Amino acid sequence: MTTARHETGRDPDAGAPEGTTAAVLGPGAWAYDRGRFVPSAGPSLPLSTQGLHYGTGVFEGIRAYRTDTGLSLFRAHDHYARLLRGCRVLRIDVPATAEELVRITVDLLRRNGHGDDTYIRPVAHKLSLLPGTPPGVSLAGVSDALSVTTFGFPAGGPTRGVRCAISSWRRPARDALPVQAKITGGYVNSALASDEARAAGCDDAILLDRAGRVAEASTANVFAVLGGRVVTPPATGDLLPGITRDTLLTLCREAGLDVAERPVSPADLLTADEVFLSSTGHGVVPVLAVSGRDIGPGTAGPVTARAAALYDTATRTGGGAHPEWRTPVAAG
Ligand SMILES: Cc1ncc(COP(=O)(O)O)c(C=O)c1O
Repeated sequence: MTTARHETGRDPDAGAPEGTTAAVLGPGAWAYDRGRFVPSAGPSLPLSTQGLHYGTGVFEGIRAYRTDTGLSLFRAHDHYARLLRGCRVLRIDVPATAEELVRITVDLLRRNGHGDDTYIRPVAHKLSLLPGTPPGVSLAGVSDALSVTTFGFPAGGPTRGVRCAISSWRRPARDALPVQAKITGGYVNSALASDEARAAGCDDAILLDRAGRVAEASTANVFAVLGGRVVTPPATGDLLPGITRDTLLTLCREAGLDVAERPVSPADLLTADEVFLSSTGHGVVPVLAVSGRDIGPGTAGPVTARAAALYDTATRTGGGAHPEWRTPVAAG
């Protein structure tokens, strides 16, 4: 694990990627912590850390891929822009732009000598009450901190697919929690849902919104293939509009597939020809069953395989289309 952290307050922290195998690997040598590079074993947080007590933090999961032209960050600027939007909601002051955070991340990856697939975990959070701020839950009057940690991402073959349960836990509505940002406290909902799904013998949970429509999986967006059309719930729903989701919508449209953002019902999933999940951590993952009912051919269907191939090419080809999505890491 490696970490970079910005500080407008006082103290530090480090996290582990949710739902990724990267978490099992040990830390790199360096981290970025509140404005400087530090040995990754060094940072520690006070027990009074506000983000720990109240979930008042925002994080990101970013990946760097080994491409044919060297290590390359994928859509890092978009991830940091999303992080900074979440920080604005939580009144977390990060004294850096998305461009600067990308540069810091490139520096960190170089320092740690990452040449292979890497997972990057920035976390910005509330830290300590400033003088004069009374104890209690608040956003104003509390200092902030930002760290960046990197993990080696083990090469693993693509997963054959996952079995999903429809969760009894509903996704919080966006007027209850800013679900469009990766708010640390909001992941209690994901943890409860994925725990319930695993206890029922499934791999992941699909959560519905208050109206009973499909929102998203515990840490991924949901796509269904219905009558040859690729559909996914609209970004305005109670879900995190994933950067992988956006990448796939773009790539599928460019490849001439029929794609629509529209409400998806649980019945749509059960009658779909194919269902797949999308996330930075796992890319495109076929869903083999929903609520105990088999979906598709028992492996990735043709549209899922196509989407996965398009995504693989986009993330692994250094000189491919959409150069704006890639940031080379190797020293120039
Ligand atoms: C709740 C949730 N939805 C969707 C996603 C997918 O987002 P992205 O493609 O930006 O990784 C994630 C990723 O971690 C997530 O946690």
